[in-house]
Amino acid sequence: MHFLPASLVGCLLLTLAAASSDETTKTCKTLASALAEDVFYPESPTYNASIQSYPFPQLRLNPTCLVRPNSTQDVVTAINVLRDSGCTKFAIRGGGHNANTGFNDIEDGVTIDMRQLNYVEVDKDVVRVGAGAVAQDVYDVTDKYNISVMGPRIGVVGIAGFLTGGGVSFFSPEHGWSCDYVENFEVVLANGTLVNANASSHSELYAALKGGQSNFGIVTRFDLKHFPVGQLYGGRIAYAPTADVDLVEGFTQFKLAKYDPYAAGWVTNRYNATTGNYTPTSILWYTKPDLKPGSLSHILDVKPQAMNGMTTAPVAAFARNASMVVKTSNFNTIWATTTFHISPTIAHKIYQKWKELIPKVTDTYKSANVASELTFQSLAPPPKSGASPNSLGFSASSTPQSGLVFLQIIFYYADSSATEGLNNALKDFVQIFEQLAKDEGQHNPWIYLNFAAWFQDPLAAYGNGELAQLRRVARKYDPKGLFQDQLVGGFKVFNGTTDWRGHWDQHGRADGDRGGKWN
Ligand SMILES: Cc1cc2nc3c(=O)[nH]c(=O)nc-3n(C[C@H](O)[C@H](O)[C@H](O)COP(=O)(O)OP(=O)(O)OC[C@H]3O[C@@H](n4cnc5c(N)ncnc54)[C@H](O)[C@@H]3O)c2cc1C
Ligand SMILES: *[C@@H]1O[C@H](CO)[C@@H](O)[C@H](O)[C@H]1NC(C)=O
Ligand SMILES: *[C@@H]1O[C@H](CO)[C@@H](O)[C@H](O)[C@H]1NC(C)=O
Ligand SMILES: *[C@@H]1O[C@H](CO)[C@@H](O)[C@H](O)[C@H]1NC(C)=O
Ligand SMILES: *[C@@H]1O[C@H](CO)[C@@H](O)[C@H](O)[C@H]1NC(C)=O
Ligand SMILES: *[C@@H]1O[C@H](CO)[C@@H](O)[C@H](O)[C@H]1NC(C)=O
Ligand SMILES: *[C@@H]1O[C@H](CO)[C@@H](O)[C@H](O)[C@H]1NC(C)=O
Ligand SMILES: *[C@@H]1O[C@H](CO)[C@@H](O)[C@H](O)[C@H]1NC(C)=O
Ligand SMILES: *[C@@H]1O[C@H](CO)[C@@H](O)[C@H](O)[C@H]1NC(C)=O
Repeated sequence: MHFLPASLVGCLLLTLAAASSDETTKTCKTLASALAEDVFYPESPTYNASIQSYPFPQLRLNPTCLVRPNSTQDVVTAINVLRDSGCTKFAIRGGGHNANTGFNDIEDGVTIDMRQLNYVEVDKDVVRVGAGAVAQDVYDVTDKYNISVMGPRIGVVGIAGFLTGGGVSFFSPEHGWSCDYVENFEVVLANGTLVNANASSHSELYAALKGGQSNFGIVTRFDLKHFPVGQLYGGRIAYAPTADVDLVEGFTQFKLAKYDPYAAGWVTNRYNATTGNYTPTSILWYTKPDLKPGSLSHILDVKPQAMNGMTTAPVAAFARNASMVVKTSNFNTIWATTTFHISPTIAHKIYQKWKELIPKVTDTYKSANVASELTFQSLAPPPKSGASPNSLGFSASSTPQSGLVFLQIIFYYADSSATEGLNNALKDFVQIFEQLAKDEGQHNPWIYLNFAAWFQDPLAAYGNGELAQLRRVARKYDPKGLFQDQLVGGFKVFNGTTDWRGHWDQHGRADGDRGGKWN
């Protein structure tokens, strides 16, 4: 018992007394006295506006209070108060676009909404971006300098969730995962210390943050390497419903062709259960407009087309256009993902299975106004040999960018009573598609964290060595498990276990000989 820190004792006693909501109320008061201007309660318009601004209704929970830090120091203060409270649960919100309920907001706890920290400063080699910025904030600035950075392709998406989860950008086919273009993370650690994590300082933390999400600290600033960019060729094409199979074939041909480092984007089919209509579409970019359209022609040439929006424009214009649909949809949105290796037949088998099952699945929820999408896109290349590593688990000699495809399976729906059933449908689809890929020998166990459902385990899918390393870094930087236990939301390296409670040395190595697991 003497191993237990005082804070944990307090927390257990409070839990026993069922007084955790009193504890949260008290913590909110402490936060309000330390950060008066930044703390908001449910009656306030700022609180309401923040909750309403989550893109998908299922994300809008009701925290006891909301903290909107206005500076890095405010984040340090908030973390210190939350940690010292002993057990107040809290959530962290970047752009708020992760679709998993409870990943970026909390019911009866504290939500830290980072969006006031949305500054964008262009320097000689890097663009310094506050962790509350969304992609549009960044591109609206970088376009003016004829430079760009590795960021989301849709303007409303937050850079914090995107970058800590990997990040597939316009330029990923050429440059790799977006996290690999983070030169430096400014991070608030569990003990309230502010550090820079980069190749020469806290390098293990630096690698862990590239794919390990919120397990190690709260990032307050990302320093992003920039590169010269003019305009891109790209846009959205809507095809006739009868072109669906040809579109899957076009994508297959694109993947089987010689690797093209300038061809980016995805192909999708959408089924609207209310109308019974299918709308196959593609959203594509060619990042070397002079050489366009390269291997994209396999997809661009699919006909008949109902609408062709391919054009040449700056990055910010594409990001803004793509945001329109998200901004106006207001449907509950849930997703899951799985990865397979391309073959002449596998994408067709998966697509046919989706097309066969989706009307049956959605028929049960007709009154819920359901739509579903199945999207195919490419993974990014790994860091080159000798470059700073990320945590995603691909070796420098592997080529996931050419062979591997990740699927997104998405449901949009109005009536939240369909949530449980549609989550089960997501689970079933993942299993069915994985089985199809396994039967053909094309399954790949990797899971892209930024499109993973809450019931998937992308951190484990990085590989055993990667997960062990992430756990070691988490123990080293967060020995009391603040980000495992009090921070809710996000994928946890200890995934619901209490293995972070124990004994380890200052490098985070567990020492079984000394025993003493707390429970
Ligand atoms: C419309 C749309 C378009 C998308 N386009 C792309 C795309 O082009 N490429 C791509 O790769 N992905 C894309 N995604 C997926 C996207 O990367 C993830 O949804 C990502 O989580 C969004 O980041 P966010 O900051 O908006 O999310 P949030 O929901 O705010 O955060 C997600 C998670 O990130 C962690 N986190 C947030 N802030 C911090 C912080 N400051 N410090 C530490 N951890 C933090 C938390 O664990 C949180 O649970 C898209 C998603 C949507 C909805
Ligand atoms: C945030 O900080 C700026 C500059 O210091 C100040 O003008 C502004 O009022 C602050 N906003 C809030 C909500 O505290
Ligand atoms: C919160 O905002 C929503 C949408 O803008 C509005 O309908 C609702 O009345 C507001 N609630 C409060 C308590 O202000
Ligand atoms: C950006 O490029 C355009 C077109 O080539 C040019 O007119 C403009 O001066 C450039 N701006 C900067 C800041 O270099
Ligand atoms: C890395 O962190 C150290 C220590 O804070 C800092 O001095 C250095 O400038 C950082 N490097 C980069 C590339 O940001
Ligand atoms: C944005 O959408 C408008 C309206 O559909 C279109 O005219 C324009 O070409 C689009 N721009 C880009 C960059 O896609
Ligand atoms: C399906 O289409 C109908 C008619 O256009 C539309 O009203 C409805 O919102 C759509 N549903 C979804 C989930 O997109
Ligand atoms: C947690 O781990 C279990 C067992 O390994 C696994 O089945 C589950 O998917 C994981 N869940 C999450 C959310 O990571
Ligand atoms: C905070 O944690 C870091 C990382 O473990 C450590 O280097 C630092 O000394 C700690 N600071 C304090 C004040 O305890």
